[in-house]
Amino acid sequence: MGEPKTAMNHLLPFTDPSAADAKAPLEIVSGDGIRVFDRQGKAYIDAVSALWCSPLGFTPERLTNAMADQMGQLAYYHSFMGRTPAITTRLTARLAALLPGDLNHLFFTTSGSEAVETAAKFARYYQNARGRTDKKRMIARDGAYHGSGQVSAALTGFGYCHDGFDLPLDGVLRTGRPHFLLDAEPGESEISFSRRRARELDELIRHHGADTIAAFIGEPAMGAGGVILPPEGYWAEIQEVLTRHDILLIADEIICGFGRTGEWFASQTYDIAPDMLTMAKQMTASVFPMSAVAMSDQVHNTIADLAGHYGTFGHGVTYGGHPVGAAVALECLDIYEEMDLPHHVRKLGARIQSGLARIAQLPPVLDTRCHGMLAAVEFPETGPFGAELGRRIGEEAIRRGVFFRTIGNVLAIAPPYITTEDEIDSIMQVMHSSIVSVTGAGVTDDAR
Ligand SMILES: Cc1ncc(COP(=O)(O)O)c(C=O)c1O
Repeated sequence: MGEPKTAMNHLLPFTDPSAADAKAPLEIVSGDGIRVFDRQGKAYIDAVSALWCSPLGFTPERLTNAMADQMGQLAYYHSFMGRTPAITTRLTARLAALLPGDLNHLFFTTSGSEAVETAAKFARYYQNARGRTDKKRMIARDGAYHGSGQVSAALTGFGYCHDGFDLPLDGVLRTGRPHFLLDAEPGESEISFSRRRARELDELIRHHGADTIAAFIGEPAMGAGGVILPPEGYWAEIQEVLTRHDILLIADEIICGFGRTGEWFASQTYDIAPDMLTMAKQMTASVFPMSAVAMSDQVHNTIADLAGHYGTFGHGVTYGGHPVGAAVALECLDIYEEMDLPHHVRKLGARIQSGLARIAQLPPVLDTRCHGMLAAVEFPETGPFGAELGRRIGEEAIRRGVFFRTIGNVLAIAPPYITTEDEIDSIMQVMHSSIVSVTGAGVTDDAR
């Protein structure tokens, strides 16, 4: 028998398998608060909360205890056919009270992708229930990330999520992303750009026929597409078009939900009134796989009528509404409430902003942006390092013990909520010094 071949045994997500064979992945062995440690004991601060999803860090003791207590009481039960864990009922009531508008109904799933798959299925079910049986298509944006399932990957706007998988599917229509910095025309103001995006959406809908389109899905602030924050007026303009054409709006809050942009939900930050809202990640601080779709009264009641007609609602997953996940989610909500989450995130966000203000002075920086604790530094693709600059700075930061998320020439920052102000300053200092080290920019400033 040969040596175990770790990389070859494990087909790694979003990784080139041949690169992983040549260079084994960095194995993370343990954590302590916002830090993780590799086999050599080197510490890294994860400044993007792993996959934007570990707001309480990597050793959240209260969640460990909540999980253990629940496992001692009821380690598993389902919500099928007339039963449900009591603790899941408690979580449902708590979420319904917290969610904006009349998003009063929840359906539980286990991953972000599954929540998006579910919302897409619900959109069709809803339209069928209304007798609008031709309304099948979905609209998603360039640069969107909605997951890795068949439909959620089809809605995702990256070619590398489609290549080799026979994606995207036929029923997906694509419209422009709200990236004012890169996509605005010369002289266009933010509001004019938002209006143009709305006009383009209106034209797309008219071209294909509103009566063929079920729903539009969008992240209130786009994460994996490069932390694209909506420009002035964007969501108001988009919503007006969707309402006029009787098209559902699904807010994908899988990154944004539970505080990231400085309100409980980003739909509140950007004044969005979605018909459905997907959530995951911060819901259980990712220590337990749990996600959900929230629905408005109208969506729920319409779906429930058709399900009543059929005699059942033919959709569900074994681990949906898991009692251990529910216990963890309830404990997360307690912790978030105790920390006065929106206020806390805005306070730490201001600290990120002041670090960004210094970084923005460095010559190679094209843009810095931040809403709450969701931030980014963007570099131009022109210049000596071209499209490689983001990767090089990201690698330098790793050498200095901080993980940022590199998305082309964007470096994303989304620290855990438990990060202290001093740690925010250290993260921003590592970003600054990594830029200086790679590009030689601002050396005199950095040396002070
Ligand atoms: C906005 C958004 N939607 C959906 C997903 C998919 O979630 P998951 O990886 O849990 O399937 C992600 C993952 O990052 C996401 O950012």
